[in-house]
Amino acid sequence: MFDIQHYLAKKRKRFEQELDTLMLSADGDFADHVAAMRYSLFIGGKRVRPILCLAAGECISPDPALEERLLPVGCALECIHTYSLIHDDLPAMDNDDLRRGHPTNHKKFGEAGAILAGDGLLTFAFDLLSDPRFTGLSDASRLQIIHTIAGAAGSLGMVGGQALDMKSEGRKISFEDLQTIHRSKTGALITASILSGAIGAGGSRSQLDALRVYGDNVGLAFQIVDDLLDVTSTTEELGKTAGSDVEHDKVTYPAFFGIEKTRQMAGQAVQASLDALSDFTDRAGPLRSLAQYIVDRTK
Ligand code: IPE
Ligand code: IPE
Ligand code: MG
Ligand code: MG
Ligand code: MG
Repeated sequence: MFDIQHYLAKKRKRFEQELDTLMLSADGDFADHVAAMRYSLFIGGKRVRPILCLAAGECISPDPALEERLLPVGCALECIHTYSLIHDDLPAMDNDDLRRGHPTNHKKFGEAGAILAGDGLLTFAFDLLSDPRFTGLSDASRLQIIHTIAGAAGSLGMVGGQALDMKSEGRKISFEDLQTIHRSKTGALITASILSGAIGAGGSRSQLDALRVYGDNVGLAFQIVDDLLDVTSTTEELGKTAGSDVEHDKVTYPAFFGIEKTRQMAGQAVQASLDALSDFTDRAGPLRSLAQYIVDRTK
């Protein structure tokens, strides 16, 4: 039986080492700014997006050099995700005080500091992705990865989803609109993480198509479970304030359907993600276990 907890712990450690190596050092003229970037990156985080990137690559190719090649890509994804959390927590957005078990970036560095830490992380991600030092990827794959990630992080993906999320606070919206918010604010970057790993591993068009379906479903399930945990878990367990969605009158799956139906819907999305992997061999084991982990997780 594949040990997902062991896999997660091992890969998390590898990405954290690499992030520490690649991230700018907090000295010199920009020390305070870089310290704010490093703060949110290293206080915690499950590292789900880099790990999905790697697992998707591993399901395409058994090349032992693949992990090395995908490390900067996974680190860039984690930088973009961390920036999205810093901005998501700002007073003008979700106004949260706790993240990854610690005070939010703006509580520690002030609002201007947090906005700039986010800007710095987003920009640094594309610096990493385009850095010619990382010769493991062909120029064509690298460009395709950059395009995939930029599209998912931007206005038709995560940023657009966040805009819809903010606009919907305290309003009645349709189920279709709720799905659009979840798929864009969270699903898009998760799908791009998976596709980036597969592109870096030389996946074929049909493999990428199947992984896109896997990613779309796993990404939706991820945000459905995030909504669930906001109402079923504790601040201590989550490392972020439980009940934040209710407090801000967010449109969520539990608000729409109640807890039981929401659980079923998360389960259905995960089943659909597993179905999309039916043509893959045992090398897709980590991806299959990650899908299950995403619904079973408690934080
Ligand atoms: C939280 O993401 C925000 C969402 C997009 C749902 P994670 O649950 O991946 O947060 P960390 O990275 O583990 O802190
Ligand atoms: C955030 O969704 C999605 C992002 C793009 C950051 P939430 O606002 O539900 O994330 P949490 O619960 O604060 O982590
Ligand atoms: Mg939010
Ligand atoms: Mg939030
Ligand atoms: Mg949430």
